Amino acid sequence: MENEKKREVVFSAIQPSGTITLGNYLGAVRNWVAMQEEYDCIYALADLHTITVKQEPAQMRKNIIDAYASIMACGVDVEKSLFFIQSHVHTHAELAWLLSCYTQFGELSRMTQFKDKSAKHADNINAGLFTYPVLMAADILLYQADKVPVGADQKQHIELTRDIAERFNGRYGNVFKVPEGFIPKNGARVMSLQDPSKKMSKSDENVNGCVHLLDTPETIMRKFKRAITDSEACVRYAEGKDGINNLMSIYSAVTGLTFEQIEHDFDGKGYGDFKVAVGEAVVEHLRPIQERYNQLVKDKAYLEECYRKADEIATKISRRTVSKAMKKIGFVL
Ligand code: TRP
Repeated sequence: MENEKKREVVFSAIQPSGTITLGNYLGAVRNWVAMQEEYDCIYALADLHTITVKQEPAQMRKNIIDAYASIMACGVDVEKSLFFIQSHVHTHAELAWLLSCYTQFGELSRMTQFKDKSAKHADNINAGLFTYPVLMAADILLYQADKVPVGADQKQHIELTRDIAERFNGRYGNVFKVPEGFIPKNGARVMSLQDPSKKMSKSDENVNGCVHLLDTPETIMRKFKRAITDSEACVRYAEGKDGINNLMSIYSAVTGLTFEQIEHDFDGKGYGDFKVAVGEAVVEHLRPIQERYNQLVKDKAYLEECYRKADEIATKISRRTVSKAMKKIGFVL
């Protein structure tokens, strides 16, 4: 019977390196929520990854709990999916070490994210920044994941994960499932409201470029009203209209309207009206998420119960993979 077929395993993770942005939500987390219906989903807060760049301890602690509550508020359901904190599941660091001995220096040197990040943090090009893709490979391979939804910037890391898995399997037999990365087709790529040629990012130097999931309605409206557009004053999706294209993508993502419907609805109207409409639609879309967040974050004991339970199950599942890999390598278990 159809529903007795074993479901495929999806794994994904996000770094709790600040607040969750509208870009994280529309590009990733909303897809995590949708995939829960069809797959066995395993999601992690990749807190170990965040220390490849400098973190302030108190802020880091807060970011982790806030991200956990925010993602639950978005609809990741701990009854349906495993949602755990990476550093609590010790197998991640263990397998990362093992895999690092099956990954070549040259391969890691070719990672474009390493090159970008070392240029950006020239005063802190630490070994973790270099070996970060190995930890990511461990995250995925531990759970024998079939599918890994990621942003376009992570595709190269997924390719490396597949290479490492294939190399290891080639030498020792089938230990790891070779995962497939995919860029969710309905995952909107949200750009900065101030520089629509760049991805929306919490590190945007202009605060008006980035909308946070927990921004107040007034702040959200202000940011959309100030969004950069163009001088054509016509709401249509076209090459060279990055600002309007971005606003249309966001509007479409939160209302479900197609680009044609949006063009039709705003025919003859100016950008001012459109920006207000986008802002209001985002505010309404985020309202129930913010309400759930406010409830959840008040109940730290409940949040802790959720992640402890998930941490324990993730540890059990992933331990099997580490034991298998270690036995094959030649360790005495
Ligand atoms: N490196 C990813 C990012 O910065 C986050 C991440 C860590 C991840 N481990 C992962 C994503 C495993 C997918 C699978 O976006």
